[in-house]
Amino acid sequence: MDNPQLTALLRQMTLEEKVAQLLQLTAHFHEGAASEGQVTGPMEEMGITESMVNASGSVLGLSGAQAVIDVQRSYLSKSRLGIPLLFMADVVHGFKTIFPIPLAIGCSWDVDLAEKSAAVAAKESAAAGIHVTFAPMVDLVRDPRWGRVMETTGEDPYLNSLFARAFVRGYQGGNLKEDTDRLAACVKHFAAYGAPEGGRDYNTVDMLERQLRETYLPAYKAALDEGCAMVMTSFNTVDGIPATGNEKLTRGILREEWGFDGVVISDWASIREMTAHGAAEDDREAAYRAIRAGVDIEMMTPCYVRHLPELVQSGLVDEALIDEAVLRILRLKEKLGLFDNPLRGADPERERQVLFCEEHRQVSYELAAKSCVLLKNDGVLPLRPGAKVALIGPFANSEDILGWWSCVGVKEDAVKVGDPLAERMQDGLLEIAPGCGIGRMTPEQCEAALAAARGADIIVLALGEESAMSGEGGSRTDIRLPEGQLELVKRVKSLGKPMAAVLFNGRPLDLHGVYDEADAVLEAWFPGSEGGAAIADILLGRINPSGRLTMSFPQSAGQVPVYYNHFNTGRPLDPAKTEERYVSKYIDCPNEPLLPFGFGLSYTTFEYGEVSLSGSEMTPEQPLIVSVRVTNTGTRTGVETVQLYIRDVAGDVVRPVRELKGYAQVELAPGESETVTFTVTEEQLRYHHSDLRYASDPGTFRVYVGPNSRDTAEQTFKLVRSN
Ligand code: BGC
Repeated sequence: MDNPQLTALLRQMTLEEKVAQLLQLTAHFHEGAASEGQVTGPMEEMGITESMVNASGSVLGLSGAQAVIDVQRSYLSKSRLGIPLLFMADVVHGFKTIFPIPLAIGCSWDVDLAEKSAAVAAKESAAAGIHVTFAPMVDLVRDPRWGRVMETTGEDPYLNSLFARAFVRGYQGGNLKEDTDRLAACVKHFAAYGAPEGGRDYNTVDMLERQLRETYLPAYKAALDEGCAMVMTSFNTVDGIPATGNEKLTRGILREEWGFDGVVISDWASIREMTAHGAAEDDREAAYRAIRAGVDIEMMTPCYVRHLPELVQSGLVDEALIDEAVLRILRLKEKLGLFDNPLRGADPERERQVLFCEEHRQVSYELAAKSCVLLKNDGVLPLRPGAKVALIGPFANSEDILGWWSCVGVKEDAVKVGDPLAERMQDGLLEIAPGCGIGRMTPEQCEAALAAARGADIIVLALGEESAMSGEGGSRTDIRLPEGQLELVKRVKSLGKPMAAVLFNGRPLDLHGVYDEADAVLEAWFPGSEGGAAIADILLGRINPSGRLTMSFPQSAGQVPVYYNHFNTGRPLDPAKTEERYVSKYIDCPNEPLLPFGFGLSYTTFEYGEVSLSGSEMTPEQPLIVSVRVTNTGTRTGVETVQLYIRDVAGDVVRPVRELKGYAQVELAPGESETVTFTVTEEQLRYHHSDLRYASDPGTFRVYVGPNSRDTAEQTFKLVRSN
């Protein structure tokens, strides 16, 4: 169907049918409507009638090819105009084959592999009948107390933007109509959901528009520039107005300024929640605000379906607003080819073939291997061949390694770290003991762990948070490892043996009680279906770890938010004079995080030569070339992530102490060198001025190159205008 045909279809719709198109419900409403024809349970509570369900536009959270086919067929058999349903779900880091959590994917700095993971997730879920995924989540984060940091790629706007694009490419491919192995993507949560006060989920977000535009908006924009089909609003307020009813944000920035003409969906119940926020007296007012703001689909509450018809009839809402919204939804259905092929990719046979197939598990393995970050290594890793190893801790044999939002992933299918380790080590060299539960240690568990540890040359602790301790609704104020595990570390440490720790968690942790105690620390995050295999291979040295942090690890929660691209203040702390009082510092903790953005070790070492610039000046027409020679000075082949940061020394508004502007990953054999070159353009030096103007200023800049955001070499250049 072309646009005129869709408009003609719209003209045939009654107001009630149009408004029902804007309603999204879970599948059990359809099952209810299909059964007795009675209005029961949640439908009755919500004031939703059977005819509303029978004309609703989309379904949330249903998957499984046969189930989707059944619902679509039964729906279409009752549909007056034959408009097919859209099926949407949260395919966040894999469908059945689960990939590492997005924060871990970020730490791979490998956007091509991230794209591949999204393509795999799309292929599996499209076969299971899904049309749209509620991903990528690209909210920028600076507060590890917030449980949803696990869903994002981190604290940097540039890197988040690259990943946003990669995920959209992977999910959507080039042609949603032809390529039924792909999904439409829905970038979320617009906007700034990642900045809730105190890290408490759903909490207030309050920031200047300049900050919003400079730091938080770029990744959403990047997803849209890549052609992302949908946008989901966020639960939080932005400048005092809930994002779901925020005209300036959705109608203004998103639609008018950025030209986005795809579908905007509310988050779960976020239209109705405007009343709890205190931005609407009742559902009717909430519906009024949301439709005016440009929100097309209402997820799981009935404000639109119950109140929009009357709001139109009373003249308060122009029917043109409803028409716009419906047309956008019809266009998405058309873009996915649903009018010609309402079952699209849903195919039970294909589902059996592709879900969790060997090829997909291999991609998950590769990504897990690249996402692990070696945080410390005083020589105990990789494990010495022939050494007796005691693997101790609640994650030694835990299946809880998929992480939150693991869709239809099956925990029991996940490769636990103990199994491949046992398979790959000689008989008799590995002992496994849980040591404690997630939060508690019994005397018996402790005894068994100590006995295993006594007989070993090296102890490997497998510690962490259970998956429900992060994710939505998973905020914490104390981000240390749970008490029982800290006790376990202490007890095992008392034996005085070499000790490595592998961490499974969904956020940067306060590593008190483990970082200093262990001789090596490997951050494995929630590594997904093949996580155990990848970790075993890293521990045994078959894989050289190459992950780099994309979120700073704080010294303690008291330092939060702590992030690398902060401002300098008028009284920065001079590291040589930490005793000075009247400078910006804590008296009980350093300013620096424990581990900075970009940080990660390898089993080999890299040396950086001098940073050289193509000149001392650049112009808008003549970019600057920055180069550095990197050499593998160790004994193993390894991948180094060479990072380029820039600081604008003085701006109209103060500028961050450094900002990532580029990076390159190079694989080098022992003794091998490579010259890495970056091009710095004037465009990369632009920022939002006090009047929100986005431009660069002539003047002095510093450029930093190194293996992370802290350990860099520096040069200076000037931006000059040619005339
Ligand atoms: C989450 C969204 C998710 C939606 C649908 C909400 O609670 O905030 O990220 O897409 O549920 O499952």
